[in-house]
Amino acid sequence: MGNTMTTTPQHVTEPGRDALANSARDHLWMHFTRHSTYYDGGHVPVIVKGEGSYIWDDHGNKYFDGLSGLFVVQAGHGRKELAAAGAKQAEELAFFPIWSYAHPRAIELAERLAGYAPGDLNRVFFTTGGGEAVETAWKLAKQFFKLTGKPTKHKVISRAIAYHGTPQGALSITGIPDAKIPFEPLVPGGVKVPNTNYYRAPDEYRGDEKAFGLWAANRIAEAIEFEGADSVAAVFVEPVQNSGGCFPPPPGYLERVREICDEYDVLMVADETITGFGRIGDMFAMNRYGVTPDIITCAKGMTSGYAALGAMIASDRLFEPFKHGQTSFLHGYTWGGHPVAAAVAMENLDLFEREGLNANVLANEGNFRRTLEKLNDLPIVGDVRGAGFFYGIELVKDKVTRETFTDDEAERLLRGFLSKALFENGLYCRADDRGDPVVQLAPALTCGQKEFDEMERILRSVLTEAWTIL
Ligand SMILES: Cc1ncc(COP(=O)(O)O)c(C=O)c1O
Repeated sequence: MGNTMTTTPQHVTEPGRDALANSARDHLWMHFTRHSTYYDGGHVPVIVKGEGSYIWDDHGNKYFDGLSGLFVVQAGHGRKELAAAGAKQAEELAFFPIWSYAHPRAIELAERLAGYAPGDLNRVFFTTGGGEAVETAWKLAKQFFKLTGKPTKHKVISRAIAYHGTPQGALSITGIPDAKIPFEPLVPGGVKVPNTNYYRAPDEYRGDEKAFGLWAANRIAEAIEFEGADSVAAVFVEPVQNSGGCFPPPPGYLERVREICDEYDVLMVADETITGFGRIGDMFAMNRYGVTPDIITCAKGMTSGYAALGAMIASDRLFEPFKHGQTSFLHGYTWGGHPVAAAVAMENLDLFEREGLNANVLANEGNFRRTLEKLNDLPIVGDVRGAGFFYGIELVKDKVTRETFTDDEAERLLRGFLSKALFENGLYCRADDRGDPVVQLAPALTCGQKEFDEMERILRSVLTEAWTIL
């Protein structure tokens, strides 16, 4: 198991010792999980403790958390000040809704987020996670246009393979066919355009990232024309797309998307569920890229995972029709802006500033990239890409032709070997084939060269072995 360097995958289940894992297998419905694995002799990994960049399982094995939980634990595990902030707030006021009422922590946090957000994105609508924030943004876009004389604008354009959450609206915006098929028909009006996977760019754009970016952005204009501008309400883009393996925006891409949205009176929504709160070295990646969207959706890193919280941050223009008269946005969540979560977020953002987490990402992102790029000498590594502390390593069958794996090979490689082998060698990260097979890394924002080297060492050993099992 962790840190032992063995890749023998089978964990022998012992009834007493594995009571938690067995109970998980029998009662816990794990998310996005193929449960048969655990009835066929697999062992549910039970994580019981975290400290800094490390986590421990119920058998005392230690692992490097290379994914910050799920792109969440920016400040690292075991931060007593964040736990204390939650406890203190629970004693003072554990719960009150923000339905026509307010409480101090939600007010302070809303003002603070508005301060971090670009342009006039000054209005904060709290949710409990990213999918709800996306859902909220789509509903706002529809109602905004109904209130401002363009009632037929309702569709959303988003990108192939992008993940935007699981509520049925957010899932309709999601571009991963396999995640949608079991739930069709979804909310109508989700239209897909190409993403910014430069590694898989059409031949004519190889070697010219800017031209590729322009091409990809112009597909949005084409889709709006095709659907009819009077039917399109919004374009959703992650500044750096997660699914598919960390696609950064080519130079000029986000600027061109902004231009297109302005031209057709379509809202630009930046889904910063992952990229927000330091992942790309700024509170919002859109600040770093210098483009102001109409809406930002965010969640995860806002509390570093010490409580559940998400938000939609909208521009003054979008709030304007809700300012007067009898109009309201008939939408909300009991837990949205929960006082404990808001208090934890405030403390987390204090910690960001006190410890300079964004500055740490900016100072170390080049070293992170260079360390991961060393893996380019392995035959299985096709591409290393990403930004900030958010990287994907695409695995290929042939480096020269960029040939990817067949479905069977990907199944054998990712599920049959890689996920388990990485974990058993002490690295928790993500091996994913929602696009082409990638390994993804998003460590805590406190990391430096020592941690990058540790990830590289484990990846090198496991990816070298992966090549031999193919
Ligand atoms: C870009 C993006 N949007 C939305 C979501 C959904 O967030 P949640 O799981 O908090 O609903 C995610 C989750 O990973 C995400 O990466």
